[in-house]
Amino acid sequence: MASKPHPSVGIYPGSFDPLTSGHVDLIHRAARLVDTLIVAILQHPDKNALFSVEERMEMIRESIHLQSVKVEAFDGLLVEFAARRNAAVIFRGIRAVSDYEYELQMALMNRRLKPEVETVFLMSGEAYSFISSRLVKEVARLGGDISGLTPPGIAARLKRRLSGD
Ligand code: PNS
Repeated sequence: MASKPHPSVGIYPGSFDPLTSGHVDLIHRAARLVDTLIVAILQHPDKNALFSVEERMEMIRESIHLQSVKVEAFDGLLVEFAARRNAAVIFRGIRAVSDYEYELQMALMNRRLKPEVETVFLMSGEAYSFISSRLVKEVARLGGDISGLTPPGIAARLKRRLSGD
Protein backbone atom coordinates (compact mmCIF):
# COMPACT_ATOMS: atom_id res chain seq x y z
CA MET A 1 0.00 0.00 0.00
CA ALA A 2 1.32 3.45 -0.92
CA SER A 3 2.46 5.49 2.05
CA LYS A 4 0.45 8.53 3.07
CA PRO A 5 1.81 11.72 1.49
CA HIS A 6 3.20 14.27 3.94
CA PRO A 7 1.95 16.89 4.34
CA SER A 8 -1.52 15.59 3.49
CA VAL A 9 -3.69 17.53 1.07
CA GLY A 10 -7.45 17.10 0.63
CA ILE A 11 -9.86 18.58 -1.91
CA TYR A 12 -13.42 19.61 -1.19
CA PRO A 13 -14.95 20.20 -4.64
CA GLY A 14 -18.28 21.66 -5.62
CA SER A 15 -20.21 24.44 -7.30
CA PHE A 16 -20.71 26.55 -4.16
CA ASP A 17 -23.26 28.81 -5.87
CA PRO A 18 -23.33 30.09 -3.17
CA LEU A 19 -21.57 28.68 -0.10
CA THR A 20 -24.10 27.53 2.52
CA SER A 21 -23.80 26.89 6.26
CA GLY A 22 -23.75 23.18 5.37
CA HIS A 23 -20.63 23.72 3.25
CA VAL A 24 -19.02 25.70 6.08
CA ASP A 25 -19.70 22.81 8.47
CA LEU A 26 -18.15 20.34 6.00
CA ILE A 27 -15.09 22.53 5.43
CA HIS A 28 -14.41 22.64 9.18
CA ARG A 29 -14.85 18.86 9.49
CA ALA A 30 -12.61 18.11 6.48
CA ALA A 31 -9.93 20.62 7.52
CA ARG A 32 -9.42 18.67 10.76
CA LEU A 33 -8.40 15.59 8.76
CA VAL A 34 -5.67 16.98 6.49
CA ASP A 35 -2.83 19.46 6.69
CA THR A 36 -4.14 21.49 3.75
CA LEU A 37 -7.69 21.57 2.46
CA ILE A 38 -8.36 23.00 -0.99
CA VAL A 39 -11.93 24.12 -1.55
CA ALA A 40 -12.15 23.66 -5.30
CA ILE A 41 -14.84 25.42 -7.36
CA LEU A 42 -15.74 23.89 -10.69
CA GLN A 43 -15.01 26.46 -13.39
CA HIS A 44 -17.80 25.61 -15.74
CA PRO A 45 -19.55 28.06 -18.03
CA ASP A 46 -22.94 27.50 -16.40
CA LYS A 47 -25.41 30.06 -17.65
CA ASN A 48 -27.64 29.36 -14.67
CA ALA A 49 -25.01 30.20 -12.06
CA LEU A 50 -26.03 33.14 -9.90
CA PHE A 51 -22.48 34.13 -8.96
CA SER A 52 -19.29 34.12 -11.03
CA VAL A 53 -16.49 31.78 -9.99
CA GLU A 54 -14.49 34.80 -8.77
CA GLU A 55 -17.43 35.96 -6.61
CA ARG A 56 -17.82 32.46 -5.20
CA MET A 57 -14.10 32.27 -4.38
CA GLU A 58 -14.31 35.65 -2.67
CA MET A 59 -17.36 34.63 -0.62
CA ILE A 60 -15.63 31.47 0.60
CA ARG A 61 -12.46 33.38 1.50
CA GLU A 62 -14.56 35.92 3.42
CA SER A 63 -16.41 33.20 5.34
CA ILE A 64 -13.63 30.74 6.20
CA HIS A 65 -10.84 31.89 8.45
CA LEU A 66 -8.73 28.76 8.72
CA GLN A 67 -5.04 29.04 7.78
CA SER A 68 -5.01 25.54 6.32
CA VAL A 69 -7.89 26.15 3.90
CA LYS A 70 -7.15 27.41 0.39
CA VAL A 71 -9.72 28.29 -2.27
CA GLU A 72 -9.11 27.54 -5.95
CA ALA A 73 -11.02 27.11 -9.18
CA PHE A 74 -10.49 24.11 -11.43
CA ASP A 75 -11.65 22.86 -14.79
CA GLY A 76 -11.40 19.49 -16.46
CA LEU A 77 -11.38 16.29 -14.46
CA LEU A 78 -11.44 16.60 -10.70
CA VAL A 79 -9.03 13.69 -10.23
CA GLU A 80 -6.48 15.36 -12.53
CA PHE A 81 -6.72 18.53 -10.46
CA ALA A 82 -6.31 16.41 -7.30
CA ALA A 83 -3.20 14.76 -8.76
CA ARG A 84 -1.69 18.14 -9.72
CA ARG A 85 -2.16 19.31 -6.14
CA ASN A 86 -0.78 16.04 -4.72
CA ALA A 87 -4.09 15.42 -2.94
CA ALA A 88 -4.76 11.89 -1.74
CA VAL A 89 -8.35 12.52 -0.75
CA ILE A 90 -11.53 14.09 -2.12
CA PHE A 91 -14.15 14.99 0.48
CA ARG A 92 -17.85 15.02 -0.32
CA GLY A 93 -20.71 15.71 2.04
CA ILE A 94 -23.62 13.33 2.41
CA ARG A 95 -26.81 14.85 3.80
CA ALA A 96 -29.39 12.15 3.28
CA VAL A 97 -29.68 8.74 1.65
CA SER A 98 -30.86 10.49 -1.51
CA ASP A 99 -27.37 11.98 -2.00
CA TYR A 100 -25.73 8.59 -1.86
CA GLU A 101 -26.48 7.18 -5.29
CA TYR A 102 -25.05 10.13 -7.23
CA GLU A 103 -22.12 10.42 -4.87
CA LEU A 104 -21.33 6.70 -5.12
CA GLN A 105 -21.34 6.89 -8.94
CA MET A 106 -19.00 9.85 -8.91
CA ALA A 107 -16.69 8.28 -6.33
CA LEU A 108 -16.44 5.02 -8.27
CA MET A 109 -15.86 6.81 -11.58
CA ASN A 110 -13.15 8.92 -9.96
CA ARG A 111 -11.59 5.77 -8.49
CA ARG A 112 -11.58 4.14 -11.91
CA LEU A 113 -9.89 7.21 -13.38
CA LYS A 114 -7.33 7.53 -10.59
CA PRO A 115 -7.31 4.70 -8.03
CA GLU A 116 -4.77 6.43 -5.82
CA VAL A 117 -7.20 9.26 -4.98
CA GLU A 118 -9.68 8.19 -2.32
CA THR A 119 -13.14 9.73 -1.84
CA VAL A 120 -14.20 10.21 1.75
CA PHE A 121 -17.86 10.96 2.56
CA LEU A 122 -18.49 13.17 5.54
CA MET A 123 -21.88 13.51 7.20
CA SER A 124 -23.01 17.09 7.61
CA GLY A 125 -24.28 18.13 11.02
CA GLU A 126 -28.00 17.32 11.52
CA ALA A 127 -28.82 21.01 11.66
CA TYR A 128 -27.59 21.39 8.06
CA SER A 129 -28.88 18.21 6.51
CA PHE A 130 -31.72 19.93 4.62
CA ILE A 131 -29.70 22.85 3.24
CA SER A 132 -28.66 23.08 -0.41
CA SER A 133 -27.52 26.04 -2.50
CA ARG A 134 -30.48 25.44 -4.81
CA LEU A 135 -33.08 25.64 -2.04
CA VAL A 136 -31.41 28.60 -0.36
CA LYS A 137 -31.57 30.51 -3.66
CA GLU A 138 -35.20 29.53 -4.17
CA VAL A 139 -36.25 30.61 -0.68
CA ALA A 140 -34.32 33.89 -1.02
CA ARG A 141 -35.86 34.53 -4.45
CA LEU A 142 -39.34 34.06 -3.00
CA GLY A 143 -38.66 36.40 -0.10
CA GLY A 144 -38.26 33.76 2.65
CA ASP A 145 -35.95 34.06 5.63
CA ILE A 146 -32.53 32.53 4.88
CA SER A 147 -30.75 33.68 8.04
CA GLY A 148 -28.56 30.89 9.39
CA LEU A 149 -28.64 29.01 6.10
CA THR A 150 -25.57 30.84 4.75
CA PRO A 151 -22.84 32.93 6.37
CA PRO A 152 -24.33 36.43 7.01
CA GLY A 153 -22.28 38.23 4.32
CA ILE A 154 -23.48 35.77 1.73
CA ALA A 155 -27.14 36.20 2.66
CA ALA A 156 -26.73 39.94 2.10
CA ARG A 157 -25.02 39.41 -1.27
CA LEU A 158 -27.72 36.96 -2.29
CA LYS A 159 -30.45 39.48 -1.55
CA ARG A 160 -28.60 42.16 -3.51
CA ARG A 161 -28.06 39.85 -6.48
CA LEU A 162 -31.67 38.75 -6.54
CA SER A 163 -32.86 42.33 -6.40
CA GLY A 164 -31.03 42.89 -9.66
CA ASP A 165 -27.59 44.08 -8.51
O1 PNS B 1 -21.54 20.63 -5.69
P1 PNS B 1 -21.72 19.86 -6.95
O2 PNS B 1 -22.26 20.73 -8.04
O3 PNS B 1 -22.55 18.61 -6.73
O4 PNS B 1 -20.25 19.38 -7.40
C1 PNS B 1 -20.06 18.51 -8.47
C2 PNS B 1 -18.55 18.37 -8.83
C3 PNS B 1 -17.94 19.72 -9.11
C4 PNS B 1 -17.83 17.72 -7.67
C5 PNS B 1 -18.47 17.45 -10.07
O5 PNS B 1 -19.33 17.92 -11.05
C6 PNS B 1 -17.06 17.34 -10.65
O6 PNS B 1 -16.18 16.79 -10.04
N1 PNS B 1 -16.87 17.90 -11.86
C7 PNS B 1 -15.57 17.93 -12.52
C8 PNS B 1 -15.54 17.08 -13.79
C9 PNS B 1 -15.28 15.63 -13.45
O7 PNS B 1 -14.25 15.26 -12.90
N2 PNS B 1 -16.25 14.78 -13.81
C10 PNS B 1 -16.21 13.36 -13.53
C11 PNS B 1 -16.71 13.11 -12.12
S1 PNS B 1 -17.25 11.51 -11.94
